[in-house]
Amino acid sequence: MKALVLYSSRDGQTHAIASYIGNVLREEGECDVIDLQDADKLDLARYAKVMIGASIRYGHFSPLLDKFAKRHADLLNAMPSAFFSVNLTARKPEKRTPQTNAYTRKFLLSTPWQPAMCNVFAGALRYPRYGWLDKVMIQLIMRMTGGETDTRKEVEYTDWNQVKQFAADFGKLAVKK
Ligand SMILES: Cc1cc2nc3c(=O)[nH]c(=O)nc-3n(C[C@H](O)[C@H](O)[C@H](O)COP(=O)(O)O)c2cc1C
Repeated sequence: MKALVLYSSRDGQTHAIASYIGNVLREEGECDVIDLQDADKLDLARYAKVMIGASIRYGHFSPLLDKFAKRHADLLNAMPSAFFSVNLTARKPEKRTPQTNAYTRKFLLSTPWQPAMCNVFAGALRYPRYGWLDKVMIQLIMRMTGGETDTRKEVEYTDWNQVKQFAADFGKLAVKK
C-alpha cells in the first residue's frame, strides 16, 4: 500500500516540502503527493500511512485542514499519520517544535486527529512575489519580530535536513495491521 502526503500551500513552500518528503518516501515504496484542495474524493483507506502539511497565513491554517482532519479523524487515528506546519515564526529555532510553535500547538489541541508524529518547519519569505498589502504587512511583522525587512529579498529558512529526517522517520513508522 502507498503512502500519501497531502499539503495546503499558498505560495509554494509547503508544496515544495511535501514534494521533497514524497521523494524521500519513494526511495522505499510508492507515494502520492496531493493538494488538500483536491482531496475531497480521495479514498484514504487505500493508503497505509498519511502525512498532512499546511502553512500559516495571518495566524491561520487553511480551513480545509481542520475540515479534513475532523472528517477523517477516525481513519487517520487508526493508521500511522503525521502532521507538519510551515510558518515564519519557526525561523527562530526555539519556535520550531509542536510545543513551542503556537499555531501548531493550538491546532493539535483543537483537532480530534492525533498524529503519531508532528513537526514544524520554517517557511520562506519572498517579498518580491507578494502583492503590495501583503508586502507591507509582512514587513511590519518582520520589523516587530527582528526579521528581514528588505523587500527586494527572498529568503528560504527551511532546514532541509530537518525535513529529510522527518520524512525518514515517517517512512520507518510501522503500518498497523
Ligand atoms: C500574507 C502572508 C501572511 C503570513 N502570515 C504569517 C503568520 O501569521 N505567521 C507566520 O509565522 N508566518 C506567516 N507567513 C509566512 C508563511 O507561513 C511562509 O511564507 C510560508 O513559507 C508560506 O508557505 P506556503 O508557501 O506553502 O504558503 C505569512 C506569509 C504571507 C505571504
